[in-house]
Amino acid sequence: SQTPVGIDGIELWSGKLRLDLPNTFAPVKDEDPEKYTKGLGVEHSSLPDVYEDIVTMGANAAKQLLDRKGLTPDDIGRIDVATESAFDNSKPVSTYIAGCLEEVYEDDFHHANKGERKFACVSGTQSIDDAYNWIRAGRNRGRAALVIATDTALYERGDPGEATQGAGAIAMLIDSDPDIVALSTEQGFGSADETDFLKPNQQFPSVDGKRSMQVYLARMREALEDYESIADDTHSDDFAYIPFHTPFPGMVRKAALLGFRHISRGTDVESALASEIGSQPRESEYVSREAYEEAIRGYMDELKETDTYREWYETAIDPTVNIARMVGNWYTGSVHIARLSTLMSAVDADRDLAGEKLLVASYGSGAQAEIHAETVQPGWREAIAPINVDTQLEARYDLSFDEYERVHDVHNHEKDTEIEAFTTPESEFVFTGWGRMSERR
Ligand code: CAA
Repeated sequence: SQTPVGIDGIELWSGKLRLDLPNTFAPVKDEDPEKYTKGLGVEHSSLPDVYEDIVTMGANAAKQLLDRKGLTPDDIGRIDVATESAFDNSKPVSTYIAGCLEEVYEDDFHHANKGERKFACVSGTQSIDDAYNWIRAGRNRGRAALVIATDTALYERGDPGEATQGAGAIAMLIDSDPDIVALSTEQGFGSADETDFLKPNQQFPSVDGKRSMQVYLARMREALEDYESIADDTHSDDFAYIPFHTPFPGMVRKAALLGFRHISRGTDVESALASEIGSQPRESEYVSREAYEEAIRGYMDELKETDTYREWYETAIDPTVNIARMVGNWYTGSVHIARLSTLMSAVDADRDLAGEKLLVASYGSGAQAEIHAETVQPGWREAIAPINVDTQLEARYDLSFDEYERVHDVHNHEKDTEIEAFTTPESEFVFTGWGRMSERR
């Protein structure tokens, strides 16, 4: 059998500021705090301090990762940055990040193939796929690939998306014989040209929020169907967890119901549920597509109230959104945060996951969904346990609403606003203005 290829190391860098949604945001917006905590499912957003941007957060995550793995630039043959917050239409963000890292290592990345991947939030997964293919093709000369998903997911103030903001980077090392997860070769896709969320030459997105949710679910359904048509493992029992792209946990609630309907079809779970809510409608039994879809909606409404579904959700889905609740949407990093959240909660629960499978459900607006499976590797616990997510999140500075508005203005490229930083850099890369860009302080 082939040597496995997958994720060998993960590090995360959160923006160093925190906006408390129920206690700081909700009162100013005159909204019930439970709209955020229960409806959208978010407690806090991570936001960048004035000296942070996608380059510094990406470089800081990557430095932590290389140091923990005991690697230097010579060990890395490829750097791909996934982002939808890029500021340069020519030079990829990976060159800026490599430039930062070269300040602190003796060797450099002259030999490394660098690029930038764009397809909204799904491009982090696409970068992992590219690295996987590069290693599988035997072009890596023994080197590993560095994939960095980094974003400042900010919306225009007053946009409904404002409550789902976030900022941070996640760096992942892709290698053969990985410590954390091995990727399977089967993938399912659902892809269509959509205009519900886009940023044509603009910093903040134009979003039709409600429609974007429908598009997410439509592409996810297509990707599930495509995956089911080719994969061996497609049933609910085959997967310990399903990390979904998480713009906010409330979206995952909807996607998970769709996912469960698919992966429970034809299983003992569906048979066991039949006495309670009947079997799933099959399209061939209906005279029209509309009638079939209506019947599916009815089935799903009943399904979500069953104990079977609730228990599955609590076990397979709830742990995937623990970090997202505390940080908001990190766009390209979001589904990778969901995987990390899953693995961290299994460490906390002392669950042995080695050999178990995750079904990873990625999504990017515009729009494309990708489904693939990953197998957890024997070294996963030792690789996940040292990641200091809690320490980083606890250290964030808690913004007042007025401070939030001021720092949001600083990150708005159209405004020329300068304010003092809220936190102090501690041996990290910091943004020093256009031109010199960044340095380590
Ligand atoms: N208690 C409990 N729940 C409450 C509540 C309360 N007091 N008040 C409202 N809620 C519930 C609502 O019922 C709703 O839940 P359901 O959808 O299950 O009914 C939820 O809280 C949100 O309330 P609203 O629908 O009223 O919220 P909104 O209209 O202000 O904003 C949004 C929702 C349109 C999604 C907005 O957050 C947005 O535009 N977000 C950005 C776009 C986005 O994230 N889209 C997701 C799919 S696209 C994608 O995934 C790519 C990406 O990363 C951006």
